[in-house]
Amino acid sequence: MSVHDLADYPWDAVVPYRERAAQHPQGLVDLSVGSPVDPTPELIRRALAEATDAHAYPQTVGTPSLREAIVAWYARRRGVEDLTTDNVLPTIGSKELVALLPTLLGLGEGDIVVHPRVAYPTYEVGARVVGATPLAADDPAEWPEGAKLIWINTPGNPDGRTWTVEELAAAVVRARELGAVLASDECYAELGWDGRWASEPVPSILDPRVTGGSRANLLSVYSLSKQSNLAGYRAAFLAGCARIVGDLLTARKHLGLMPPAPVQHAMAVALGDDEHVAAQKELYRERRDALRPALEAAGFRIDGSEAGLYLWATAGEDAWASMGRLADLGILAGPGPFYGAHSGKHVRLALTAPTERVLEAARRLQSVTL
Ligand SMILES: Cc1ncc(COP(=O)(O)O)c(C=O)c1O
Repeated sequence: MSVHDLADYPWDAVVPYRERAAQHPQGLVDLSVGSPVDPTPELIRRALAEATDAHAYPQTVGTPSLREAIVAWYARRRGVEDLTTDNVLPTIGSKELVALLPTLLGLGEGDIVVHPRVAYPTYEVGARVVGATPLAADDPAEWPEGAKLIWINTPGNPDGRTWTVEELAAAVVRARELGAVLASDECYAELGWDGRWASEPVPSILDPRVTGGSRANLLSVYSLSKQSNLAGYRAAFLAGCARIVGDLLTARKHLGLMPPAPVQHAMAVALGDDEHVAAQKELYRERRDALRPALEAAGFRIDGSEAGLYLWATAGEDAWASMGRLADLGILAGPGPFYGAHSGKHVRLALTAPTERVLEAARRLQSVTL
């Protein structure tokens, strides 16, 4: 297996549904890809502009102010208070890190990379690129000998599955038994909505209640794409086990994956401001509060989705049938089969359309029974 053997990019299969939805007289409501639509906050744009004199090579490890901002953010927002700058590393985007982590860890044929059963597809892609074997398994008891890297995603894309402190602690114990790296992709952690996540923060894998006092083998992976509307900046980072962070840094220095200096400055400023994150969350809340009951009124059941950026919906029929019916209402969703073999009857609806378009989708859904 090599990069040449990757399948066609799956989103190409959605094009006919986009064309069908675009024929709706009141226009398309695109809830498919999950690309932020709200403006990048002014203070972050100013920070980027301040840093455009970038004549020197940027630091692969990150500027001191960025590394300190990441450490302070984990302490303030994630309840992880004992990190030092040796535990953190900025990355160029999270997708790139997810895709490259098996490469950067030196994995290859014979190694197993575990990922969730219903999953962001890039975990599997990263495994396949190095010839490792991807394995979909959620229960730590099913994680096998030979697993070298285990991905969890909390809150999950697409299904919003969110791991409790107790579940994370059990995952840590199992990963350590196996000697595997446990990487927790946490980029939707600020978006808790229902159940316990309405009142308590989504825990990080680095939470002291989870780690048993040691960060060995553990990585938390984060992205500013969604919480700060920075998807175009490719602004992300990881934190955790100092040994692994050090190894990744060495590999990255050789490969030249240096986050651009202006982006590093913008990230440090973004991480220091919680107000814009809270304001963005309220926009997503308004959209979610309109869309969820409208989907239910139209005959969909929402599964999981108690946190995160998506509604994971099923009408009990083949996902592509739901895609078609939604397209006839001018609504474009993401098909469940893109997220693995266990989601053939689900569709994913992202909260990333302008509020006025989401309200329009809700009106259309409320006027029909699928
Ligand atoms: C679970 C998950 N991880 C990682 C990413 C990638 O984020 P980034 O924009 O930083 O590449 C996404 C983006 O949608 C995601 O859903």
